[in-house]
Amino acid sequence: MKNILEAPFVREMCETTANMYRLGWDERNGGNISYMLDEKEVGEYLDFSKVVRTIPFMGVNQEDFDASPLEGKIFIVTGTGKYFKNVQKDPANNLGIVRIGKGGRNIELLWGYEDGGRPTSEFPAHMMSHMARLKVDPENRVVMHSHPTNTLAMNYVHELDEKKLTHTLWEMCTECIVVFPDGVGVLPWMLCGTNSIGEATAKKMEEFRLVIWGMHGIYGAGKTMDETFGLIETVEKAAQIYMLTAHLPRVNTIKDEDMVKLAELFGIKYRKDFLNL
Ligand code: 13P
Ligand code: ZN
Repeated sequence: MKNILEAPFVREMCETTANMYRLGWDERNGGNISYMLDEKEVGEYLDFSKVVRTIPFMGVNQEDFDASPLEGKIFIVTGTGKYFKNVQKDPANNLGIVRIGKGGRNIELLWGYEDGGRPTSEFPAHMMSHMARLKVDPENRVVMHSHPTNTLAMNYVHELDEKKLTHTLWEMCTECIVVFPDGVGVLPWMLCGTNSIGEATAKKMEEFRLVIWGMHGIYGAGKTMDETFGLIETVEKAAQIYMLTAHLPRVNTIKDEDMVKLAELFGIKYRKDFLNL
């Protein structure tokens, strides 16, 4: 067996959490990531017959929560209460590799959470988001939750309306409409760690790769860690420009007609109803 600490997916989790911490997006235990892995690749590092322990799903009513479409799927996931700051120096305590058990009823720990830990409290929202994204994009692999500073700040001063918020973000950087042409879904403030927020997030994920959790943070989904990180990074950059300029008189702006030109140049399908043409 190869050394799991050298596995590319473990390195990627370490690098990403370190970057997110360094950017100030994930204070203390803020944020969580789940990354669906290729069974064959993981099999080079772990013996699947050795389940370290079985962990129940938390924060969900078993009757309402059906993760059966993910039975047997393997994920590397950040641990609940764990600090992104610490993942790189101690991946075996702060990360876990889990397999979704029979009927999607529980979680089988294959590696990690060595101090007795368990997956993020947002695991149900992650699993529901994976299921929703896989229906629209079978190549989706990553779900990422974070508390980026400017995105969060913007939540307090901008209407939490999908069309208006997406439009404002698109106006802030030329690249925005190209990077997230599907826009940003928005949920009001909701209690985190519950079935309800998981269901609401997953519903939005049928339409959007980015979902704002009002006055809490953001969810992103993508095929790769880079794609998912890049989505959140681009929203955060746009939110930063907004927060730097919102209180100043606007002299110039990227017009809706300019955004149409960008979309046409890059040949992308975008939410036309989010423009005011
Ligand atoms: P966890 O520590 O359980 O991952 O929770 C962090 C968080 O951001 C909750 O929304
Ligand atoms: Zn959070």
